[in-house]
Order: sequence, then C-alpha cells, then structure tokens
Amino acid sequence: MTIASALLDWYDQNARELPWRRDKDPYKIWVSEIMLQQTRVEAVKEYYERWIKRFPQPEDLARAAEQEVLGYWQGLGYYSRARNLLSGVREVCAVYGGKVPDEEKKVQALPGIGEYTAGAILSIAYNQRTPAVDGNVLRIFSRLFCLQEDILKASTKRQVYLLVKEHMDPARPGDFNQALMDLGAMVCVPKRPRCGECPLTSLCEAYARDVQDILPLRTPKKAPVEVVLAAALLERKEVYLVRQRPDNGLLAGMWEFPAVEVLANTTAEDCLKTLLLNELGLEVSVGEREYYYVHTFSHRKWHISFYRCRQLSGRLKPEQGRWFRLESGEELPWAGPHRKAADALRCAMKNGF
Ligand code: ADE
Repeated sequence: MTIASALLDWYDQNARELPWRRDKDPYKIWVSEIMLQQTRVEAVKEYYERWIKRFPQPEDLARAAEQEVLGYWQGLGYYSRARNLLSGVREVCAVYGGKVPDEEKKVQALPGIGEYTAGAILSIAYNQRTPAVDGNVLRIFSRLFCLQEDILKASTKRQVYLLVKEHMDPARPGDFNQALMDLGAMVCVPKRPRCGECPLTSLCEAYARDVQDILPLRTPKKAPVEVVLAAALLERKEVYLVRQRPDNGLLAGMWEFPAVEVLANTTAEDCLKTLLLNELGLEVSVGEREYYYVHTFSHRKWHISFYRCRQLSGRLKPEQGRWFRLESGEELPWAGPHRKAADALRCAMKNGF
C-alpha cells in the first residue's frame, strides 16, 4: 500500500461534495481557491455560488466594474484578493483569449497566484503533477514523515513540496491534492487528530512514535499590533461623510467614515479635528462616542471608536470624500468595522433615534 493508493481509496469514499468540484473549469477552481484562502469551506459555498451565477465565465468578470466585484466579495475579507483575481482574469481575457494558461510559470505570473494556487489549478483543472502545499498539507506531511523542523520555514515548505511531488499519484494529481485538503479538514486536524479514522496511520511515522499531537512544530506567531483609531460620524441632513481608503495598504480602496490613528499623548478629539480640517477642509466639533469595535486582522488589531461630529464651517475638498445617504439602497464596500457602524446607524435611524 502506498500513500497515494490509501489516500485515494479513502477519498473515493469520503470526498466532500463541494460546489467547485462539480466541474474542472480552471476559472472556477481559481475563484474557489482564492475565496478559500481566507475563509472556511462552509462559508465560501454561498459566496462561490453567488459569484458564479453573476460571473459564470472569465469574460463576465473581466467586463464588470471593480466596485460591483468588491460587493460580491464583501464579507470574505482582504479585498486585495478580489482585486488581484479581477486583474488576473482581465489579463487572462486580454492575453490568453479567456483561457487560463496551463503552464506553471504563466499561471504563477498572474496577480494573486502563488505556488499553492497555481498547484491547485494545474492539478485539479489540467491534471498536472503539481503539489498544492498549504497549512493542511504541511501538517499532514510533517506527521507522516515526522518532520521536526518549523513548518513556517521556507526550507520545510520546500521539503514538503518535494515529498508531495514524489508521493502523488501521477494519474490523479488533482484528486490527490484535494484528498489531502479533505484529510486535513476532517481527520488529520490540528488538535487531537482522528487517527482512528485515518487511512494513513500504518504509514505515519508520527503515529508510530505517538507524537502526532505535538506535530507540526512552529515558532509562535507575534501578537498583532494594537492600534487605536477614531472615526467621525459627520451628518448633514441624513447624509454622512465617507471617503475611500488609499489604493494600497490595508483595506485598500474600501470606504470608511473618515478615521485617524490616535497616537499616544494625543486625544481622539484633537486627531479628528485635525484630520477633518487638513485633509477634508472641514472645521468640526467632536461630540459623543457612539460606537466602539475591536477588529483583528492578521497583524493588526483595531480599537476603533466612532464619534458624532458637527460641522462648524468649511467646504468638503473635492475628491476627498462624498456625502452618502445610508438609506439610499446603494451599498458601499465598507472597510472592516465601518460596515458595523453603518449598519448600527441605519438601525438607529429606522428606530427613530
Ligand atoms: N481548501 C482550499 N482549497 C480547497 C478545495 N479545493 N477543496 C476543499 N478545501 C479547500
């Protein structure tokens, strides 16, 4: 019995039925893989179905406006992924006539596609023998071969990549990769792996040595940096001042109530007044704190407070923001917790507060 035969026999009996497994369209595999990079399978299903209904072919996506596309991504987080997907698909339409290329180098050259995603697309859609090494695969292989190196190190990833390549079934590379994804999700899970249900126990060195619970090894992650922010709820006859974040960096291009980092030895009030005056051209007074949210990104933790503000003088500098009616029916791709504030305001208005 080999790793490949045991794993594929198990997969044939236990594969999860997932919407992106219904056909082998490389565009659809691409969309699903990008969505799955940051979100649980269960949550992705609905987003994926909605997306494919609206953008069934690469051309449908390529033609769409960015704001609409981002709307379909809302809730999946990290909009840069959606933006990269859109520019990648536009490139595929412009350069490759709408057909995702089947060469590793060309696929990896598309925006947002790294070794993992290229491996998944090429193996699943084009039956090529390319590993797709993610955290699941690192965990499974570090247990199978009892690897004691930190799995976050590039050299460990390389080692696992080569092991996967060596052991994958050349006839069914896509199924092999997906079987690893399913095994990692359902059996060889991070805590208390279900070795009793695993098709690979007799081949697993960690199991033989009873160290499956302590593998894989990794050096602890740094805690996210805590950032205190203040945001302005500036209302004028039922419209609120909003602006778009810069084109690069965290939550690039998303919409927000004007917000500023409150550095040590300053106050939210002073920071907001300065921001609104200098960047937006408005003199304001700062009133009550209305909402407070904590929002954690991978390396930042926002503590953001929303303050009621009142305009005293000035005129909004062109291009620096817009007045947005929250109840217009239009939805903006909000930046993280700003959406919560917008929803809370809408709710308050509906209830007559
Ligand atoms: N996680 C990442 N890619 C996946 C896929 N194709 N199927 C299931 N889980 C996944």
